[in-house]
Amino acid sequence: MEDSLPSPETDNLKTPLADLDEWEEDVVLRYPKPHVTKKGEEHAFRDYRAEVRPSVKEFYRLNHTLQTFDFVKAKRREFLPLRRRQMNIWEAIEFLDTFVDDSDPDTEMAQSEHLLQTSEEIRRDGHPRWFILAGLIHDLGKILCLFDQPQWAVVGDTFPVGCQFSEKIVFPEFFASNPDSTNPLYREPLGAYQSGCGLDAVLMSWGHDEYLYHVVKDYLPDEALAMIRYHSFYAWHREGEYDYLMDDHDRKMLPWVQKFNPYDLYTKCDERPDAEKLRPFYEDLVAEFFPKQLSW
Ligand SMILES: [Fe+2]
Repeated sequence: MEDSLPSPETDNLKTPLADLDEWEEDVVLRYPKPHVTKKGEEHAFRDYRAEVRPSVKEFYRLNHTLQTFDFVKAKRREFLPLRRRQMNIWEAIEFLDTFVDDSDPDTEMAQSEHLLQTSEEIRRDGHPRWFILAGLIHDLGKILCLFDQPQWAVVGDTFPVGCQFSEKIVFPEFFASNPDSTNPLYREPLGAYQSGCGLDAVLMSWGHDEYLYHVVKDYLPDEALAMIRYHSFYAWHREGEYDYLMDDHDRKMLPWVQKFNPYDLYTKCDERPDAEKLRPFYEDLVAEFFPKQLSW
């Protein structure tokens, strides 16, 4: 690795964010809820970049610099044998809740409460049971943090590696420091891929989305799997990029990923869900789709 590149394993580069939610709060700034204020115009003309916290900017700098084609392949080799643990969904939720990363944990909700808020909102809107379940579990891949992974390899907007980085990815200028930007093949729009090959054949930057997809891929309908796998792929589902990599299946899945996104972004509120009361419904739901143990 060149001298100018930060080392992925250096401790102080692991946690640029004060807490993991800081990235998601920033995404909401970038994509504010459309009808939420009477001052809609204010939103339309807001200077997003001026509002970005330095910690978030540093997070994106590290993410865009270090998520290379080779890094992604190495992380897949490290994690995708899924040999770390056997856990059911409930154990994974409880495990995720042991992760406290905030400087003021008293005011923060547990990760599981965010998951329940998402799934409850989906349920309120009368969506199918698999959609509710996707809401409940979609962030469980964040347990990667408990396996000592740096924040920029767990959360963040995801994007294809091994081909040209889209200009519509947040802070595209940080890709100039990514070694793949100097690789003649990966600089090409198609890079290592074939036109219309389908996103399944494309390596995405490594994080909680891709990881969880592999844990649950045998048990859920394709629409739920697409929601889980691509929920942070904003350049695709919000910006309409990477059309040339899509196949017909991706085109069918895209509207579902878009339908899921508002539940992911806009359901975080201060009202705490009553986990005890909700538990029987979700016990049934999880048992309907998943076996007793899953490999993580
Ligand atoms: Fe997520």
